[in-house]
Amino acid sequence: MRLRDKVVLVTGAARGLGRVTAVACAEQGADLVLLDVCADVPGVPYPLGTPGQLEHTAALCRETGAAVLTAVADVRDEGSVRAAVALAEERFGRVDVAVNNAGIAAPSGKPVHGIDEDEWSLMLDVDLSGAWRVIRAVGGAMCARRSGSIVNISSTAGLVGYRHFAGYVAAKHGLVGLTKAAALDFAPMKVRVNAVCPGSVRDDRLTEGRMLAEIARSLEVPHEEHEGAFTEAQPMNALVEPADVAAAVVYLAADESRRVTGSVLTVDGGFSAR
Ligand SMILES: NC(=O)c1ccc[n+]([C@@H]2O[C@H](COP(=O)([O-])OP(=O)(O)OC[C@H]3O[C@@H](n4cnc5c(N)ncnc54)[C@H](O)[C@@H]3O)[C@@H](O)[C@H]2O)c1
Repeated sequence: MRLRDKVVLVTGAARGLGRVTAVACAEQGADLVLLDVCADVPGVPYPLGTPGQLEHTAALCRETGAAVLTAVADVRDEGSVRAAVALAEERFGRVDVAVNNAGIAAPSGKPVHGIDEDEWSLMLDVDLSGAWRVIRAVGGAMCARRSGSIVNISSTAGLVGYRHFAGYVAAKHGLVGLTKAAALDFAPMKVRVNAVCPGSVRDDRLTEGRMLAEIARSLEVPHEEHEGAFTEAQPMNALVEPADVAAAVVYLAADESRRVTGSVLTVDGGFSAR
């Protein structure tokens, strides 16, 4: 019960890594605030989470005994992010941990000079500015309480480049930079900010994640071959499992990491060590 009595907010919680992370936090005793856009976003060429998927994550968390609040909110919209945080503070009194997990993998698949203005803006708005908006919404109260942990889900794309993914790579590198800058701003108030950089994570059917499939689609890797193609690039010859990422988040959320801030924890089977 490493998160007993903690209130954890997870963005992008309807499915995938957000779902697994939320359930892992619930299993460690946390109460949960589950936020997701629960709608398709114009310009993102694949379906995003649904209200039914968000409710399913909530049900899985409740099965562990957690109290759960769900909020439909788009991290591009400051008002809806602030409203969700206000609702959480009203219900639970505070947010102890914020996990900035919501993200999109596309529009991608073009060389940098082929990306248009709208595609670039959309990617940065969700994958970088979305995390900044959540940090703004929870940061003041965390600083006032002299306690809090923020975990930003970046990517190996926050550490190295990938061809035809300039927007995603720039956003995820930006998220690493935001992590370090926010960690320094908040350190005197004992509020911690860290990043997790997952490598290629298997799209677990139980969690309904679909990012690896969408990255493959942007790269025009045939669907039935994509897991093998990504696995070949892994030093450990295995994809990362969603639970591997969730375990890193639990560590950074819990008090056992109380002197860890501004750090970047890679969960990539050695991919970025080369
Ligand atoms: N899956 C991987 O291989 C991998 C690797 C490295 C990093 N990541 C990162 O992990 C995070 C989760 O990825 P995933 O694989 O679970 O993806 P996913 O597409 O399966 O799930 C993403 C969730 O975020 C939500 N979301 C998207 N835009 C949103 C918005 N504007 N506001 C609120 N919610 C929004 C979606 O509805 C969806 O439920 C992302 O930030 C991603 O970049 C994933």
